[in-house]
Amino acid sequence: MIGLGYVGTVTAACVASHGHDVWGVDVDAAKVGEIRVGRSPVAEPGLDALVAQAVAGGTLHATASCIDAVDGADVSLVCVGTPSTARGGTDLSYVRRAVDDIAAAMRIVTPPPSGQHSVVIRSTVPPGTVEDVVAPALTGGLAGTDITIGAAMCPEFLREGSGIADFFASPLLVVGTRDPRVAEAVTNLFGFLDQPVRVVDVRIAEALKYACNAFHATKVSFANEVSRLLRLLGVDSREVMSLFCEDQVLNISSAYLRPGFAFGGSCLPKDLRSLLHLARISGADLPLLAGTLATNELVINEVVDRVVACDARSVALLGLSFKMNTDDLRESPNVELAERLIGKGFDVRIYDPVVNPARLVGANRREVESKLPHLRRLLAHQPSEALRGADAAIISSSDHTVLDTLLTSPPRHLIDLTGRLGSQVESLPGYEGLGW
Ligand SMILES: NC(=O)c1ccc[n+]([C@@H]2O[C@H](COP(=O)([O-])OP(=O)(O)OC[C@H]3O[C@@H](n4cnc5c(N)ncnc54)[C@H](O)[C@@H]3O)[C@@H](O)[C@H]2O)c1
Repeated sequence: MIGLGYVGTVTAACVASHGHDVWGVDVDAAKVGEIRVGRSPVAEPGLDALVAQAVAGGTLHATASCIDAVDGADVSLVCVGTPSTARGGTDLSYVRRAVDDIAAAMRIVTPPPSGQHSVVIRSTVPPGTVEDVVAPALTGGLAGTDITIGAAMCPEFLREGSGIADFFASPLLVVGTRDPRVAEAVTNLFGFLDQPVRVVDVRIAEALKYACNAFHATKVSFANEVSRLLRLLGVDSREVMSLFCEDQVLNISSAYLRPGFAFGGSCLPKDLRSLLHLARISGADLPLLAGTLATNELVINEVVDRVVACDARSVALLGLSFKMNTDDLRESPNVELAERLIGKGFDVRIYDPVVNPARLVGANRREVESKLPHLRRLLAHQPSEALRGADAAIISSSDHTVLDTLLTSPPRHLIDLTGRLGSQVESLPGYEGLGW
């Protein structure tokens, strides 16, 4: 275990308590000294007792020497700090140093009986670190030897204050590696946890931790922004949020968390604007909620930019309403997209399995007339009609008529805004997803 801070000590003690022979190493002699006398160098509920037990039982040792730590070891877990640089980047110098230390030590020590040593990064590192920093440092450090060493990212999800409980009931156990022997070593190491190991691409594992932390931070700020406004309106935000959390269908669920196109429709933009208006007249700043409108706009811009970059003249837009199975065009981002593309001189043909301009009434009709006055002329009756002669297709509907037609006559460029077209369409040449 390289680094005996919060993550390293919790992991070392928990793994040692399940019979693995663990050697912890730290550049800080005081932390090594604490473990040696059976105490935790960091305050964490239950950790002193777990460390004391593992040290007394002979499964947990501490040293200031990386050589002693990796001698005969199957796995090194790198748990060193990755603090912010002055400009907000990630300081990888501790990771680099730890990996260099491991490589240098491996040249000297007895290899493990398995013949392979695995270096597993547990620290939070930006996508690309294992492939661009860790693996080259290991390869360079071991050049000229026949030592086999593999690298992986295994993100840590524990929270300080409940580190031991979180370690044993981790929400996910994810290993990012290309090397099946490293995946197997991690699976064996954590075999005592009642958790399946998910083996993924290394960049996925690195990015996952950032996505989780960004989401958690966003959740806290969302609740605080709601509360900031509701307090001024004399509403008890704790009661609102408590009921909010009872909705596990739309609120606390995977709903709305699939990367895809912009939000729209008759409710979300309108009600968000209304909330922001209330905030303005009440004197509350809600930068996170205001930012959602700005970021939604960027999603539409990005699709327009992609179409422009395709060098297409003629574009088929397959799906016009704001989501499938409705003919509601109010604030549909697809209507906005069509309007912008027409404004840029593209020849746009539209197919939507549900929208029938003859049957549009009220606000829905007014919305179309203001943004797409010539909709009747733009609308095709069949997807094949919209696709005829099109250089590019933008797909906002995964209706089976759309999918079947794409498979029989795929255009040169295919921009998928749904993320759910299925492998047949996704493997067509010219396929481009949004956000992957
Ligand atoms: N603290 C958390 O709750 C938590 C949770 C998940 C992930 N993480 C991530 O895990 C990593 C470690 O976090 P932490 O809070 O345990 O950090 P920490 O600062 O408490 O511990 C890091 C330890 O690494 C030691 N160290 C630095 N360079 C070393 C080297 N070359 N050899 C040996 N030891 C070395 C330091 O002396 C220190 O004791 C960070 O990347 C962090 O983002 C932290």
